[in-house]
Amino acid sequence: MEWGMANRLSKLIQADGRCLFLPIDHGYFQGPTRKLEQPRKTLEPIVEYADAVFITRGVLRSSVDPDKSKPIILRVSGGTSVIGKDLANEGITTSMEEAIRLNVCAVGISVFVGSEYEKESLLNLAKLVDEGEKYGIPVMAVTAVGKELEKRDARYLGLCSRIAAELGARVVKTYWCENFEKVTGGCPVPVVMAGGPKVETNLEVFEFVHDGIQKGAVGVNLGRNIWQSEHPVAMIKALRAVIHENASPAEAQDIYDSTKDGKRG
Ligand code: 5RP
Repeated sequence: MEWGMANRLSKLIQADGRCLFLPIDHGYFQGPTRKLEQPRKTLEPIVEYADAVFITRGVLRSSVDPDKSKPIILRVSGGTSVIGKDLANEGITTSMEEAIRLNVCAVGISVFVGSEYEKESLLNLAKLVDEGEKYGIPVMAVTAVGKELEKRDARYLGLCSRIAAELGARVVKTYWCENFEKVTGGCPVPVVMAGGPKVETNLEVFEFVHDGIQKGAVGVNLGRNIWQSEHPVAMIKALRAVIHENASPAEAQDIYDSTKDGKRG
């Protein structure tokens, strides 16, 4: 692997082989998502606990100070919205030159396997990989499910993840599901898990992240279940412990409780 590519990947996936990516890119198709209305305010208290931030160029420029930034994964696909015809009909929104100018560690793009725009989104990924490899910039493929959350099973996610890896993604973001080892087992590049819509209890999040890590994920790219939480700092600290310190879900819950109650720094 070229030095530049290896260097960028090492800033994302830490020396222990694990990572906590913090996505705040949701506005690119959802608009001012709840608790992300002012990205700077959302990010400020929690960013120090993240290994990297997944973000669009507009929010990066407006809401992140260049002298205080974590490694950046730049969201470079889009062009659709939640009120439009079809979320899957994305194009590439940001050039590789722009990614280089912004000094990012990776770029991220969604693929919509099984949708009407499967071919376009996969060819967009392949094109982005060609460009990224030229300059040593890794591509993270986001296996999107659009509005159809029921697609989150091992057969479907395993298929999407493998295809993304075959087309050259250096990292694949997918969802946790039952039998997650089938997803990671069939994907020859590192897999990170998204959180999806906010769930009822924090323990559920700790449990699926813990299970996914045991089954081969290298970490998470997890947003809403952190920054839509009542206590985002407590949440991200607890998740960090699961990812980087092998904390159990019960230990993570303890960290969450004691941090939110101010008993832990
Ligand atoms: C949305 C994304 C997010 O980065 C991804 O879904 C992770 O966020 P969350 O944990 O909130 O699902 O790709 O465009």
